[in-house]
Amino acid sequence: MTKLALLVRGTALLICLLIFQASSTSHGQASVSGVCIGSERDALLSFKASLLDPAGHLSSWQGEDCCQWKGVCCSNRTGHLIKLKIPSQFGNLTKLQYLDVSGNYYPDVALAWLPRLSLLRHLDMTYVDLGSARDWFQSVNMLPSLKVLGLSGCGLNSTMSASISLSNLTHLEVLDMSGNNFYTSLKHAWFWNLKSLKELYLSGSSWIGSIPSDLANMTALQVIDLTGNQLVGLIPEKLGNLCNLTRMRFSGNNIGSSIGEFMGRLPKCSWNTLQEFSVQYANMTGNLPGWIGNMTNLSVLQASKNMLTGTLPIGVGALSNLNHLDLSHNKLDSVLVEEHFAGLLNLEYLDLSYNPLRSAINQKWVPPFRLKVVKFQSCQLGPIFPEWLKWQSDIDVLVLSDSNLDDVIPDWFWVTFSRASILQASGNKLHGSLPANLRHMSAGYIHLGSNKFTGQVPQFPINIARLNLSSNFLSGSLPSGLNAPLLEELLLANNQLTGTIPSSICQLTSLLRLDLSGNHLEGDIMQCWKESDANSTNLFGWNMFSLALNNNNLTGQFPKFLARSSQLMFLDLSYNRLFGGLPEWLPEKIPQLRILRVRSNMFSGHIPKSLTSLHRLHYLDIAHNNISGSIPWSLSNLKAMKAVVSQDTNYNFYEDSIQIIMKDQKRDYTFAIYKLLVILDLSSNRLAGQIPEEITLLIGLTNLNLSNNQLTGAIPNQIGDLRQLDSLDLSFNGFSGAIPSSLSALSYLSHLNLSYNNLSGVIPSGQQLQALDNQRYIYIGNPGLCGDPVGRNCSTHDAEQSGLEDIDHMPSVYLAMSIGFVVGLWTVFCTMLMKRTWREAFFQFVDMMYDMVYVQVAVRWAHMMEKTQDGAP
Ligand SMILES: *[C@@H]1O[C@H](CO)[C@@H](O)[C@H](O)[C@H]1NC(C)=O
Ligand SMILES: *[C@@H]1O[C@H](CO)[C@@H](O)[C@H](O)[C@H]1NC(C)=O
Ligand SMILES: *[C@@H]1O[C@H](CO)[C@@H](O)[C@H](O)[C@H]1NC(C)=O
Ligand SMILES: *[C@@H]1O[C@H](CO)[C@@H](O)[C@H](O)[C@H]1NC(C)=O
Ligand SMILES: *[C@@H]1O[C@H](CO)[C@@H](O)[C@H](O)[C@H]1NC(C)=O
Ligand SMILES: *[C@@H]1O[C@H](CO)[C@@H](O)[C@H](O)[C@H]1NC(C)=O
Ligand SMILES: *[C@@H]1O[C@H](CO)[C@@H](O)[C@H](O)[C@H]1NC(C)=O
Ligand SMILES: *[C@@H]1O[C@H](CO)[C@@H](O)[C@H](O)[C@H]1NC(C)=O
Ligand SMILES: *[C@@H]1O[C@H](CO)[C@@H](O)[C@H](O)[C@H]1NC(C)=O
Ligand SMILES: *[C@@H]1O[C@H](CO)[C@@H](O)[C@H](O)[C@H]1NC(C)=O
Repeated sequence: MTKLALLVRGTALLICLLIFQASSTSHGQASVSGVCIGSERDALLSFKASLLDPAGHLSSWQGEDCCQWKGVCCSNRTGHLIKLKIPSQFGNLTKLQYLDVSGNYYPDVALAWLPRLSLLRHLDMTYVDLGSARDWFQSVNMLPSLKVLGLSGCGLNSTMSASISLSNLTHLEVLDMSGNNFYTSLKHAWFWNLKSLKELYLSGSSWIGSIPSDLANMTALQVIDLTGNQLVGLIPEKLGNLCNLTRMRFSGNNIGSSIGEFMGRLPKCSWNTLQEFSVQYANMTGNLPGWIGNMTNLSVLQASKNMLTGTLPIGVGALSNLNHLDLSHNKLDSVLVEEHFAGLLNLEYLDLSYNPLRSAINQKWVPPFRLKVVKFQSCQLGPIFPEWLKWQSDIDVLVLSDSNLDDVIPDWFWVTFSRASILQASGNKLHGSLPANLRHMSAGYIHLGSNKFTGQVPQFPINIARLNLSSNFLSGSLPSGLNAPLLEELLLANNQLTGTIPSSICQLTSLLRLDLSGNHLEGDIMQCWKESDANSTNLFGWNMFSLALNNNNLTGQFPKFLARSSQLMFLDLSYNRLFGGLPEWLPEKIPQLRILRVRSNMFSGHIPKSLTSLHRLHYLDIAHNNISGSIPWSLSNLKAMKAVVSQDTNYNFYEDSIQIIMKDQKRDYTFAIYKLLVILDLSSNRLAGQIPEEITLLIGLTNLNLSNNQLTGAIPNQIGDLRQLDSLDLSFNGFSGAIPSSLSALSYLSHLNLSYNNLSGVIPSGQQLQALDNQRYIYIGNPGLCGDPVGRNCSTHDAEQSGLEDIDHMPSVYLAMSIGFVVGLWTVFCTMLMKRTWREAFFQFVDMMYDMVYVQVAVRWAHMMEKTQDGAP
């Protein structure tokens, strides 16, 4: 035979896969530039060991540093193996029938060796970068025995397929070209004349235009996958000979007509062969056809995220092979009855979420199926808790959020679903109390927030990762033994919890997010800190990115354990009774901090100078404390406030969803809106001195509140540079001099308060200034001001008249204007203007009325979310 006998043991050359795995598992490992990574070297050696190489083509493959081996190329930076040349000797394997070179692998592709493997039946080149291999098709086309060809993720584009006309691959049965970037019409694709083709995978490859009638020629076709392209329109009308269709996937295209018409084009002879029909997110309208029940082999039916209307055909209930039914996010308007499900013996996945469906299923009904996943989010399932779920003890994922349930949560809930991993029934009116102990539950994620549960917080399930019981009426104290080593998210906000935070909370060292806000918790704020732990890792808080303890009655100093929370982005300690100074170490220890709220506490001392080196901070609220000293001149270091944020601002990883919830009125703000807020609120402290001129460099500011301090000097002339300002409050200070005329440049301004200072001179005019409400109260208490709207003639103005002026303006009750804080979120009004004492009253009033905005930051918990998200089974 051949002098070189590179013989392959086993079925595949798994080099690349091995390399890929090796590089992903050893990621993060320190490596010296250019020196081989051990696990990758081992992968190469084991590959070499699987070959016979008498001619010694791989003889250089020995020694420690695999980066020096022939054909091997490592990254200069990471040391990882990034390139491996396909040895041209592959061409000598002329009897090879099965070749798998798939993987994360960047060869200098020259496929000249390929045609020599003329017996090849199976060629998998998944993820092999063929972007520069102009000859790929010519080479592949020389393999007439080929049955399976995998070319997914190969960087192919239209420039490469354009030249191709007749193909030689008359035996090809499976063609996978998904994950390429063709940006071209399917019309002229080279594969339409492959009459033997059974499976055609073309997903995610940017195919555009319509689905050509050539499809009808592929009479052997069983599987066609066009998911996630930019195809427009229906399938061709005459598909009469495609009688062996089993899987049709058209999700993520723009079909743009009724689902009835689409399904009407399926050849009738395929009705009982079809196993999967997927048309999610495909811009389809209309009703599901009544004859859907005749597709007797259907196992997967997915048509979510369309605009389907009408009723759910009773015929669906006859699909005895149906395993996966997803019709969520449509406008199906039916009353669900038992017949809809009567024959669904094999149903395991049911998602009817986000449809205006109502349920009239008898409470006594016993379903024929055993579901694993059931989702009825935002359906009218209630008010009675569906009793038929009682029999579904195999359920792994249960989603009944916002489904109009108004019932006592049944006792069996905790038994039937004790093995489920996800339980969501938030946003209902479920009441009753939770069992005292949930330790027997397997759940990793429980969301029962925004219901009406009473009673105590239960003992946590032992494997819980995310627990949300916010916005209920839970009372009593937290369980003393908080034992949940995997807990990442604990949300108990807006309940009526009392007592202290148990010290066992410090054992929840996996916590990423903790929200205990809006309760009546008292006593010392968590003391999860010992000096001796200072340099230890994996202690409470080390991983945390969001902490909300606001609106409680906690005392103590600024929590020291936060010095460990280097990932923290969001911190809200406002509305407590915390005291002491704000720490100097924030920027050093919590460099990621974006939002810091400590308002309405009893913090004292100065604003730490270091605070301004929090480069990501765009929301700083230390109002209503006892902070003295001056405003740090280095304000201009607050980089995040110096940028005008726009909708496109990329916010790294916490962009999923953020809600700002205000008191009882719940308002969901998209993150897009939230991230537009740039706030500096230092109001109601004892700050003195001047406003540093640098403040005018914080051009991103949307809200600036310095009111109720003892600030003096002039308002910076360049204040008009803060073009984004929506709200500016400088009232109740000792500012003097003229109002800068640049103020009239603030075209977004909707709240302005300059009252009760010592300002003088002409009030600037400007369109926006004149449009503000409560004109006279903006400037009141500044006897030296003249012009509109205080109504005093500037020419006759005389500073000595100031005393009289005040009396003129103080008849009885005034509506004082609001201090804008968050765009349109609140309006403070009404206060008695009685001599100087009204000031204190005003403080208290504002304190009470001030928004209780808090921001919930959500991130991905990929492993949990996958299960809750829609998608293929
Ligand atoms: C093996 O392949 C190499 C390069 O393609 C070629 O030079 C050599 O002659 C081949 N050996 C045999 C035995 O075919
Ligand atoms: C790695 O370093 C070598 C030598 O310094 C250089 O020639 C090569 O271009 C570098 N490769 C990359 C990918 O930076
Ligand atoms: C297609 O790939 C070739 C080779 O990588 C490249 O030169 C060309 O720019 C690509 N064309 C498009 C439209 O991306
Ligand atoms: C088809 O395959 C044969 C055998 O490998 C080859 O000789 C011929 O050139 C191929 N035809 C085309 C059009 O590539
Ligand atoms: C498909 O069949 C039609 C009619 O037989 C024919 O005109 C057309 O060329 C065929 N398409 C291909 C790609 O073979
Ligand atoms: C369809 O499938 C049947 C049974 O598997 C097979 O006999 C028949 O040849 C197939 N039809 C085509 C056109 O390939
Ligand atoms: C959905 O289809 C309709 C009808 O074909 C079309 O007018 C509309 O533009 C499509 N919608 C989108 C988002 O493409
Ligand atoms: C569906 O099947 C039923 C029972 O087999 C049959 O009576 C009915 O005609 C079929 N419907 C269509 C549209 O073929
Ligand atoms: C922690 O580390 C710092 C710097 O490495 C060191 O100065 C300090 O003494 C250490 N503290 C403890 C408690 O080990
Ligand atoms: C906070 O605690 C103090 C003293 O412990 C108590 O007087 C006050 O009523 C509490 N406030 C709230 C809102 O619970």
